[in-house]
Amino acid sequence: MTQPTSSVARPRRSCLYMPGTNTRAHDKARLLDADVLIFDLEDSVAPDAKAAAREQVVARLGQDEYGARECVVRVNALATPWGADDFAAVAPLADAVLLPKVTGGDDVRAAGQILEGAGPRAKLWAMMETARGVLNAPEIAAAHPRLTLLSMGLEDFAKELHADNGPPRTAMLYALERTVLVARAYGLGVLDGVYPAFDDDPGFDAACAQGASLGFDGKQLIHPRQIAAANAAFAPSADAVSEARRLIAAFEAARAQGEGIAVLDGVMIEALHVARARDLISFAEAVAARTQ
Ligand code: COA
Ligand code: MG
Repeated sequence: MTQPTSSVARPRRSCLYMPGTNTRAHDKARLLDADVLIFDLEDSVAPDAKAAAREQVVARLGQDEYGARECVVRVNALATPWGADDFAAVAPLADAVLLPKVTGGDDVRAAGQILEGAGPRAKLWAMMETARGVLNAPEIAAAHPRLTLLSMGLEDFAKELHADNGPPRTAMLYALERTVLVARAYGLGVLDGVYPAFDDDPGFDAACAQGASLGFDGKQLIHPRQIAAANAAFAPSADAVSEARRLIAAFEAARAQGEGIAVLDGVMIEALHVARARDLISFAEAVAARTQ
């Protein structure tokens, strides 16, 4: 169960990648219950297919057929031969441009300036997937006002560290916790990484539960069969909403008696717990509105 802060209320429980060349996936996505669609121009697209993928994604975004889903494009890094063209083509159309391989504030400032030139709409999201990127996370978070979200890229990160990112992700915990900490400190959204074994339901459920307990807003996904579990894991359950209402009622009853603290089921409740319960209910309402 997630505990969103009031500054990060938009549901981003399920963020599905699709290779920029995969038109069948782009068709299917119109009916999928993902909060975010990430059209990928980077690592899932072969060098020879980069230009075609860019054209395809621009055409899809121009059709405006994905309803309430946020449409994000992962571009190639600006240092690659394709990065500048990717930015110019997708920045006017996407809700956000996801910048890969970020190493520091300069990468974010360069991308932010291009987005400003492309119009008022697109936000910037940054992949946290290099050693220097995780190290420089606070500098990255503060580098440009267009930056609104940090997104874990554990496949690249583990490769660079020579570390293991398999369950239970012990070697990844520092980076995961640091990224959530920095995102919250700077009022940014934050997404957990992908789970590549898309047939492994128990493993995926465990990874979602871990990500939600660490504080992530949602998970990046590679396959439609991961959407429902992520949507459930990163939203409050009906029981959690009932508990939140009970907690608020107990506190208000104590307040009516002139008390500043309440006790419910042997547990102390203060105003901060009430604020968190209200955030949980607001987020559940935002999820319900999203799925209507
Ligand atoms: N988005 C939308 N639809 C998808 C999808 C995705 N990411 N992945 C699979 N599908 C669709 C398939 O088109 C297929 O549809 P169909 O039955 O109507 O033909 C259905 O879901 C079942 O697909 P399946 O056969 O199980 O998967 P696959 O073997 O075709 O593809 C992957 C497996 C991993 C290659 C594919 O899921 C994929 O490309 N994922 C995204 C990879 C990516 O973008 N990586 C970059 C970030 S890490
Ligand atoms: Mg990567």
